[in-house]
Formats: sequence, C-alpha cells, structure tokens
Amino acid sequence: MNHQALDYVKSHADAFKQQLKDLLSIPSVSTLVEHQGDCERAAEWLATDMRRIGFDTVEVIRTKWHPVVFAEWMGAGKDAPTVLVYCHYDVQPAEMSDGWHTPPFEPTEKDGKVFARGAIDSKSNVMAQLKAAEAVIKTGTSPVNIKLMFEGDEESASENMTTFVRDYGDRLKCDVAVICDGSMSDREQPDIAYGLRGVVTMELEVHGPKQDLHSGHFGGTVHNPIQALAEIIAKLHHSDGSVSVPGFYDDVLSLDDEERAELAKALPWIETEWKDVAAAPQVWGEADYNLHERIGARPTLEINGIRGGFAGDGFKTVLPGMALAKISCRLVANQTSQIIYERLCDFIMTITPPSVQAELRLIEMGEPALIDRHSPAVEAARKAYETVWGKRPHFVREGGSIPVVVDLQQALDAQLVLLSFGYKGCAAHGPNEHVYLDMWYKGMAITIQFYEELCMGMSKD
Ligand code: BES
Ligand code: MN
Repeated sequence: MNHQALDYVKSHADAFKQQLKDLLSIPSVSTLVEHQGDCERAAEWLATDMRRIGFDTVEVIRTKWHPVVFAEWMGAGKDAPTVLVYCHYDVQPAEMSDGWHTPPFEPTEKDGKVFARGAIDSKSNVMAQLKAAEAVIKTGTSPVNIKLMFEGDEESASENMTTFVRDYGDRLKCDVAVICDGSMSDREQPDIAYGLRGVVTMELEVHGPKQDLHSGHFGGTVHNPIQALAEIIAKLHHSDGSVSVPGFYDDVLSLDDEERAELAKALPWIETEWKDVAAAPQVWGEADYNLHERIGARPTLEINGIRGGFAGDGFKTVLPGMALAKISCRLVANQTSQIIYERLCDFIMTITPPSVQAELRLIEMGEPALIDRHSPAVEAARKAYETVWGKRPHFVREGGSIPVVVDLQQALDAQLVLLSFGYKGCAAHGPNEHVYLDMWYKGMAITIQFYEELCMGMSKD
C-alpha cells in the first residue's frame, strides 16, 4: 500500500472537498451554447490545478466544440507503465424549476453528501482522478506515468472525440487506459463495469395538413399527426416488450453460460437498486432476460419525448399540422448505430399510413463497447477495489453509454479499464444530483491502490 499518498489524501481531505465544490460551481453545460465560456473556464480551472500539481506538460486543446484538457507526467521513468485517464468535465443542463431544493451550481453539503449538477456525473470522478494523481506525484511515490485527458463534450455525444483520439493517437500512447465515469449499483457493494451500451438518437417528424387547423372545421377528415405518430410508435414494440423492428436483434452478441453466471452475481443488487431508484409500479421488459441482462446485454428503443399541438394551460381546439417524437436506441456489443438507424427508417416507412408523411432524422451516434474483463489491468482494478472496500467487486454490464470508449479501443494498443466510485441512486442528469463524500474519498484510495497493483501485475520486459 502507498501509505504516503493515502496520508496525503487524508491530510488534504478538506482542501480537496473545497476544490470539488469550486469545480462544481462552474456551470460547464456542454449542450447549451450560452455555456461555452463556462466550459472554457472549467477547462482552464483544471489546467491551472494540473500545473500546480507539477505535471510536465499541460495543454488546453481547442476542438470544434469544447476544449480537451491534456496533461502528462512521465516521472516514473520509461520502464514504468503509463496510464491514460479519461474523464469528462461537462455536465447536463439544470434549472431550479426541474425540482432542485438548492441551486444546482451552488454546491451544498448535507449529511455527508454534496448536492450540485455534475456531482456524480462526472466531476467527482474528475476530481478523484486528479487528486489521486496529486497525491502520488506530490509525495514522489507514483509507480506509473500518468496522462490525463479530460473531455468537455461527453454529454453532447463526444462528436469531437473520434477525430481527437485519432489525431492525438501518439500523445495518448499508454499501456492502460482508464475511463472513469458511471456509477455503482449499491452504496455498500462495489462493482466494475466491463460493458457499455451504445446510443443512437433520432427525431421522428410526422406531417399532416400544411398548418394547424380548426379541429371543428376539419376534425374527422384529416388524420391527426399526433394520433398518427402515436399509432406508429405503438407499433415499435411487441406486447411482450421486445422491439418489433425487423432485424433489430440480428447482430446482438448473445451471452454464454459463463457470462450469464457472472452477471447473475450482481443481480440481487441491481434488483434492489431498481426498486429503490426506479421505483416504478412493476418491472417491464423482455421476460427471457433478467434485469441485469435487460439493462446491460439487450438493446432497447425508447421514446424520450413528444411534441406537437397544444399542451399549455387552458385549451385550444386545434388539429395540429405536425408532431415530433425524440427516439433513441441503446445498443449492445456487435450492433452498429448506422445499421439500426437504417432498419428503423425502413420499418417506419412501411408502417406510416398514406394520410401523413414521416421523416426519421439521425441526430447522434455512440457505439457500444465491451472490454476484456480478464485482462491484467482489470485484474489490478479488481484487487484495488477489494483492498479498499474489503469486498470482492461484482462485474457488471452498464446500461449507459460513454462514446469515447470505442474510439480509445480502436486507436490505442492498450488495455482498457472502467472505474467508477459513486452510487447510481445519486440522480445523475436529474434534480438534486449529489455525491457521497465517503465514496468519493474511497475513489482516490482505489486509484492509488490501482497504480500499485498495476505495477505488480504488469512487467514491461
Ligand atoms: N456517465 C454517463 C454514462 C454512464 C451512465 C456510464 C451510467 C455508465 C453508467 C455519461 O455521462 C452519459 O450520461 N452518457 C450519455 C451519452 C449520450 C449523451 C451520448 C448517456 O448514456 O445517455
Ligand atoms: Mn451523463
């Protein structure tokens, strides 16, 4: 164990917490143009701290959208392994009116938690990684070379990152790439993810009459676009919960017995999390797959929102001219966004009645990822969690998406590891997002221990 680095974390616990709050105060919302300056400010804030820590090089690299912050410390020498750490510093939008009890960009500490947008997704991960790096570098005890790459566009689907990772391939060279994002299913039981779903987002627009009409003058003679949209949407699933788009499941990599058994170990925790966090009246979905498999190993089609007609206060007897649905599919290993988009297009064209016109537009694509859970690097992570938590972590397949993972997998000749430290019930993307401070400090200890385990598990000759 690296006691010097762990002691450094202990003695700086309050200062680190203050810094986490400082970063959380910057509204680095990547999905809204008016926050462009805030994203830059967050990037500069991180770069300043990296310089203070003593990284050899620190760069704020401009991209088409928001900057990537890149830092390098090669002080462990050329025989030591090099670790590249990826996190994202951008956040989702947040407004008091969404149901926040305290202002989302004024971090508020209560009962061992800090409430703020980005607390769990993902500034606590950014800061756990940055402060763990500080602890090993400042105490002169780092057994590994460290490169940090903090992205500012993850919440807007990381469109830049494919080119960035390709162009910067040489600078990113490493033995192990750590992707620190996401969260765990339980407060008391750690898990390590080795699978992420992909996501393809789309807009389905249905047009009927050339503009909104008086529903008395024309009702009964014009196919209402909202109704037509609802009819189309209703045909996208079978009554057993499976997706009815022809070919939708064709490329899905099926689970073998060994993997099913591994996933089953975490099932009770995932079921409990479902009850506590989703808390819907009852479970829904594909009956042949358990909850963990449905979330991690099965693709889905989701309607994320519907727009059209009049839904304000009062009433407007209107027959709308158009209706729009936001639709997304979560994809699993072996599926590709483009193919799924095309299959959905074809199907929608066949089920659209001639009384309306429909168009399905592709918005964003992120591919699914599956990483080798038996690699030495993942084994080092397992040991690190076990040392810090005193419990063997479960291996899980995550339902969420981190688009850059596939880019890293393709561009680098490195082992990949996914690390996460917080709890899933912390309202990522929702109101009153928070992070448990005890889990956050454990994240630093896990990272420090992970570096130790890596060196023991990997020799470079
Ligand atoms: N941190 C999440 C992804 C995540 C969630 C990983 C849960 C593992 C478990 C990330 O910030 C996120 O929200 N990603 C988006 C991607 C999208 C905007 C392309 C997602 O999954 O919806
Ligand atoms: Mn997110």
